[in-house]
Amino acid sequence: MTSPTEHMLEALSLAKKGLLTTRPNPMVGCIITLDNKIIGRGWHKKAGDGHAEVNAIQDVFDNLGPQAQSSLERSEMYVTLEPCSTSGQTPPCSEAIKKHGIKKVYIASRDSSQNGFAKKEKDIEIVEGLLEVEARELNRGFFSRIEKNRPFITAKIATGLDGGIALGSGESKWITSAVSRKDVHKLRATNEAVFTGTGTILKDDPSLTSRDSGYERDEIKQPLIVVIDRNNHLTGTEKIFSTDAKTLIFTSEDSKIKSPKSEICIMKKEDLGNLKQIMKYLSNEKLINTVLVESGSNIFDSLLAEELIDELVLYQAPKLLGKDRKTFSKFDQTSRKLSTIDLEVSSISDSGEDKKIILIPNYK
Ligand SMILES: NC(=O)c1ccc[n+]([C@@H]2O[C@H](COP(=O)([O-])OP(=O)(O)OC[C@H]3O[C@@H](n4cnc5c(N)ncnc54)[C@H](OP(=O)(O)O)[C@@H]3O)[C@@H](O)[C@H]2O)c1
Repeated sequence: MTSPTEHMLEALSLAKKGLLTTRPNPMVGCIITLDNKIIGRGWHKKAGDGHAEVNAIQDVFDNLGPQAQSSLERSEMYVTLEPCSTSGQTPPCSEAIKKHGIKKVYIASRDSSQNGFAKKEKDIEIVEGLLEVEARELNRGFFSRIEKNRPFITAKIATGLDGGIALGSGESKWITSAVSRKDVHKLRATNEAVFTGTGTILKDDPSLTSRDSGYERDEIKQPLIVVIDRNNHLTGTEKIFSTDAKTLIFTSEDSKIKSPKSEICIMKKEDLGNLKQIMKYLSNEKLINTVLVESGSNIFDSLLAEELIDELVLYQAPKLLGKDRKTFSKFDQTSRKLSTIDLEVSSISDSGEDKKIILIPNYK
């Protein structure tokens, strides 16, 4: 007999189908069962389209025809996120659940932007928290935006064994293997914005788009490229301005950028160093859930100092970059209570000839 956990796992795997398309909405999956057999499946495909619950109910009608309504009245629903109870681009799912008489609803994770379905719906048996950790992990960007008012921030760094991220000359291309570089393209495709500093743009002139991720090209929505140009270095002729990705530049009124394609956000000079405020702007004004940082040590260390890095993805190549190498962090020990920053190792895997290490900073 299939357990409730197994049904919720299937709902989670349905939710994941929306990885590249639901933004800024969360990924949500839904299963409807009758006598423990699945009679409907649904997932949220993209913002503005039907929600997972409504799509699963429709699937029951498609599968069972005239028997659908009476089956729904005896059915159980498994949904990975609390059903919405407010009207957005589509009517509230809570109404559809009530209308069709679904008797029991399993919910994996609560949604604090909603009205508390479990508290309000007294006639429905509700079980909350089944696979909550997994469901929150799946939508960690969405939860960060609605609960912390900032995106979930991942920093990607490619290093040699000696921590070098670039040669003394500033050159940093091809430190890591082709497999790792492809993985970075995947990270770009699955994050909603890529954030970097003028140091990286001026030295490397990268395009920062996702070109070789393994995902279908027409599935990929290019990340928004975000740069802080507080000293007006950028001219608008750099590569980031001539790709199919949108760009957003935080700069001062003396900016030299003339690119009509780029969005320019003019700020006071002192605010251009305020990374918390910039991340809040990305969250509140641009509805960005996830940011990938691909910078040198200056931006990286400033983010680290503000405790803004949630996860670090380190690709470590079996290479030494030599005496004059640039390293990925030179954080300022005098501003901290401890002289080290501890990182918890979340996973280590092979990436071609490199190691891919996922780390979580422990700021306590
Ligand atoms: N291996 C890798 O994974 C990797 C990835 C990216 C870059 N790199 C290498 O890193 C090197 C560039 O390093 P970088 O440190 O100069 O680049 P960066 O961190 O990308 O940019 C640094 C610049 O950003 C500006 N900035 C704006 N706001 C800032 C803030 N709040 N805090 C700090 N800086 C801020 C500063 O310039 P202003 O003071 O003029 O505003 C600063 O010089 C290049 O050689 C590149 O190849 C390596």
